[in-house]
Amino acid sequence: MSNFIELNSIEKYYSVGKDKLHVLKSLSLNIEHGDFVMIMGKSGSGKTTLLNILGFLDRFDNGQYIFDGNNVTNLTEIERSHFRNKNIGFIFQQFHLINNLNIYQNIELPLLYDNRFGKKERSKKIKKNLEMVGLIDKINQFPNELSGGQQQRISIARALINEPQLIFADEPTGALDTNTSNEIMNILKSLNDEGKTIIMVTHDPDLVKYATKVIHLRDGVFTEGV
Ligand SMILES: Nc1ncnc2c1ncn2[C@@H]1O[C@H](COP(=O)(O)OP(=O)(O)OP(=O)(O)O)[C@@H](O)[C@H]1O
Ligand SMILES: [Mg+2]
Repeated sequence: MSNFIELNSIEKYYSVGKDKLHVLKSLSLNIEHGDFVMIMGKSGSGKTTLLNILGFLDRFDNGQYIFDGNNVTNLTEIERSHFRNKNIGFIFQQFHLINNLNIYQNIELPLLYDNRFGKKERSKKIKKNLEMVGLIDKINQFPNELSGGQQQRISIARALINEPQLIFADEPTGALDTNTSNEIMNILKSLNDEGKTIIMVTHDPDLVKYATKVIHLRDGVFTEGV
């Protein structure tokens, strides 16, 4: 196990009108390759903000971010999106599938970002991932024709299409019933067993059993776990 992600004294403010909201307060954190990290905390404690910073979706105001030995604190916007596409797959509570694209096209989207693969190769990868999540028969259907659990499996297939080493999941089971939620957690567990590093936000204490590391946030401060 080696250090994969390192945050040092991260500060994040949001401007709300004339006021500044101090959302993350001097957060320091280490995550190792192969970890399954769960971030827990009340609504508004800063979990999504932290995940978005870790995932290069949002910037921070102070502190240092080291990713796989590289100092990524001051990357440009283009470097950040390149880093994101290459290294991270995202899964969201509300799936974020595009309703007027079919399942094939939804999973294909991240592959079109840099045109690394030709049409045949893309098709092979998409089918392989659909088989992995057990939904190859839905390939030509549209997101709103699928159940919530099926849509989340499609979004996992999409998140994995660039073979990222890291998966970020913001409340991936938040919109699902217990059985479906267990199905999704078992997929994430097997990905973690294969060596993927997973960072997940959840409210559900029952899911802690899947984690190798649990971090608690309260009002932008880590209270436990680091
Ligand atoms: N774009 C924004 N502009 C201003 N304030 C924001 C913005 N995004 C989040 N906030 C505020 O920052 C704080 C942390 O928000 P965040 O979304 O990180 O919380 P969270 O822990 O993910 O909550 P939840 O469990 O409800 O998803 C909240 O007080 C929120 O209102
Ligand atoms: Mg949130």
